[in-house]
Amino acid sequence: MRIGFVGTGAITEAMVTGILSGTPLARDVLVSPRNAEVADRLARMFPAVRIAADNQDVADACDILVLAIRPQVAEEVVKSLRFAPGQTVVSVIAATDRDRLQEWIGQEVDLTQAIPLPFVANREGVTAIYPPNFEVASLFASLGTTVQCATREEYDLLAVASAMMATYFGIMDRTTNWLAAKGLPDNSARDYLAALFASLSQTVLRSNGTSLKELSGEFATKGGLNEQVLVDFERNGGVTALTDALEAVLRRIKE
Ligand SMILES: NC(=O)c1ccc[n+]([C@@H]2O[C@H](COP(=O)([O-])OP(=O)(O)OC[C@H]3O[C@@H](n4cnc5c(N)ncnc54)[C@H](OP(=O)(O)O)[C@@H]3O)[C@@H](O)[C@H]2O)c1
Repeated sequence: MRIGFVGTGAITEAMVTGILSGTPLARDVLVSPRNAEVADRLARMFPAVRIAADNQDVADACDILVLAIRPQVAEEVVKSLRFAPGQTVVSVIAATDRDRLQEWIGQEVDLTQAIPLPFVANREGVTAIYPPNFEVASLFASLGTTVQCATREEYDLLAVASAMMATYFGIMDRTTNWLAAKGLPDNSARDYLAALFASLSQTVLRSNGTSLKELSGEFATKGGLNEQVLVDFERNGGVTALTDALEAVLRRIKE
């Protein structure tokens, strides 16, 4: 399989690293020359990477074409490309829906949208795709796991979920800072929280569908410390702040 990327930035670097580290998932990887530094780094790291002459060179030479540019330049870049009829195209461009992409492409292609996350570099990324597509799902399954969305609404909701990453680290950061301010060495706080949160996520993954409410109840001993934090969080507007933030992201995605 030859896979090509138009837009060689952070997410392309993560995908190419995942694709070519360990047993390679592609024979050839073609990257567009922008950004020159990232393209050069990838080409030096992986012999299978070739830096294309330009964006069209990428589109012409690959079986799967990944569009990985920022939304601001998407229309200009996509409209300027010629696509082969039926070509497999994966768009990871945020906030740019299928209908608009299809219109800019101006050709019948096999178009899938995807939300890869930086963890694909270590083959540990969960990637939402829409619509379901066997070939694209297999690629992302090899880079971690894939969730195939049956509807655009489901896909948009997972895009909202992916906006929780910075807040997750934010909660860790604020808790670490608080612990450190109370006298715990910064590293101890950080290591403890990272291990604690990893165990909590593992508990969900291993729980065979036990509801999160049930798990929350299991970990909140009646009258205990966990219950106290949960009650305080809800009482002081934590849930409202979270729900409002999620609603605002959904509105933005649907704009
Ligand atoms: N980063 C993530 O975790 C992530 C996850 C999922 C989806 N996405 C989406 O993926 C897309 C790329 O994100 P990113 O984080 O990789 O952004 P990025 O690091 O800014 O990469 C975008 C790349 O596009 C290049 N570019 C600009 N104009 C171009 C043109 N006319 N032709 C070809 N390439 C051009 C830029 O080159 P220069 O540096 O030379 O300008 C840059 O290297 C965005 O739509 C983003 O929303 C990102």
